[in-house]
Amino acid sequence: MIQYLRLFFFIGVFGVLSFSCNFRNGGIPANEKPASYNNEQYRPQYHFSPDSAWMNDPNGMFFLDGEYHLFYQYYPDSTVWGPMHWGHAVSKDMIKWQHLPVALYPDSLGYIFSGSAVVDTKNSSGLGTIQNPPVVAIYTYHNPVLEKKGSNVFQNQGIAYSTDKGRTWVKYPGNPVLKNPGIRDFRDPKVIWHNATNKWIMILAVQDRVHIYSSPDLLDWRFESEFGKGIGAHGGVWECPDLFEIKVTNGDNSKWVMFVSINPGGPDGGSATQYFTGDFDGHKFIPDNTNEKWVDRGRDNYAGVTWSNIPESDGRRLFIGWMSNWDYANVVPTIKWRSATTVPREISLLKDGKEYILYSNPVQELVSLRNKVYRPFKEPQKLEGDMEINTDSISMMQCEMVIDFNLIGSAADSIGIILENNLKEQLVIGYTGKQKQIFVDRTRSGRSDFSGKFAGISSSAYEAGDKLKFRILMDASSSELFVDNGKLVMTNLVFPTESYIKLKVFSKGEVTLENAVFYSLKSIWQQ
Ligand code: FRU
Repeated sequence: MIQYLRLFFFIGVFGVLSFSCNFRNGGIPANEKPASYNNEQYRPQYHFSPDSAWMNDPNGMFFLDGEYHLFYQYYPDSTVWGPMHWGHAVSKDMIKWQHLPVALYPDSLGYIFSGSAVVDTKNSSGLGTIQNPPVVAIYTYHNPVLEKKGSNVFQNQGIAYSTDKGRTWVKYPGNPVLKNPGIRDFRDPKVIWHNATNKWIMILAVQDRVHIYSSPDLLDWRFESEFGKGIGAHGGVWECPDLFEIKVTNGDNSKWVMFVSINPGGPDGGSATQYFTGDFDGHKFIPDNTNEKWVDRGRDNYAGVTWSNIPESDGRRLFIGWMSNWDYANVVPTIKWRSATTVPREISLLKDGKEYILYSNPVQELVSLRNKVYRPFKEPQKLEGDMEINTDSISMMQCEMVIDFNLIGSAADSIGIILENNLKEQLVIGYTGKQKQIFVDRTRSGRSDFSGKFAGISSSAYEAGDKLKFRILMDASSSELFVDNGKLVMTNLVFPTESYIKLKVFSKGEVTLENAVFYSLKSIWQQ
């Protein structure tokens, strides 16, 4: 019934706007009741996923009064991409989420594409009061009718505001607040407060670059500068940028970091997110690096951005990404829903020689899910060849594992772990000492019949030191590898036909397995 009402509302509101959309594949109504989180094989148990239907990018994350808000690109009427809404969830710890009603529906200006949200503490917009400051969401209106007509101005920026802690939203009557100057790809505004110039800054993805705008009140926007033409990766269109200042963990200074997602053009195909470090004075971004650097070297972390309004007393830079890839997101073998987010991550920046390197680690709140711990060895083990490890009763499909290798004196060529099921499907995660690469091989990891672009190996150049530390988060259809405390991250989906039940460590050449710890993780949906 609700589905029909929504359709009715949608037809009414859109009037002449057509449903067809060339931007992504059209949608088939799912007509399914919301799924329970336990009855589908690939349903993540501790990653956020929509109750039912399609999700892509995380949007508009902000923190207010003890609540982390997460919005997301959502098409409630189908399990494939379609007319975009903003779905909504809240959490007290970024781990256990409560679903809330859809926050933003498409309207006569178009679908609601990606964007951000800020708490307008000083009520600069006048959309609330000083006593009750508004939360302002800034997003892209994507008008499918104009797009179909071949117009170039189908993406414009609009705002909506809430004065009840994000529970309900009012679209600003003066929308759009930033009009398209005639450029086809003009979207995904991320807004931040810039202290030094006392202004709001918007960073917007514009084809093969970003545009930077400023505003005193979130309503009037002035063009400041652009960045990116010919810099970094350009195998596809730039999307979903972010810009933030961060203290350097091992230095006295701070730097500005820019994230830019790109699709296609990721290092192993399809979607990926690159980053630049540099300086920003409120007008112009001056990069330190012009080469490509990636937030995550796996295939499945896209369009990730960071939270707004994290209190200074907390001080963390908190990130979440969409755990999929446009190469196959619409066809992965899930039934009632599609897509999940990565685990929330804390971002940090470390100086390494002349370079700044981005580190990502699961937020420490995730530790609250650890249930049972199992340490199979009391002493370090010499390892050569394959060794099966008994993981006790800890399920390989819902666990965290920490595996440390000691490489001192080792000439081992290839070391790592294999997760395997009874069908001999395998996920292999490892390091090649000779080629100096970290890799995640899902070539024979399970189902890949849904897309010719899924099976394969993600690999990244990496120079291990004396020790190599793997922290791996496994959920029903995902693996997240954090190497050496977050210096390299690889997020990869995986769809084994049956659960992995065996864990092997392997080494070609001798190496010391210094430590192995397994934690079962509780489901966030059952507590
Ligand atoms: C990124 C993206 C954004 C756009 C949204 C549409 O995945 O393509 O650029 O706003 O998805 O759903």
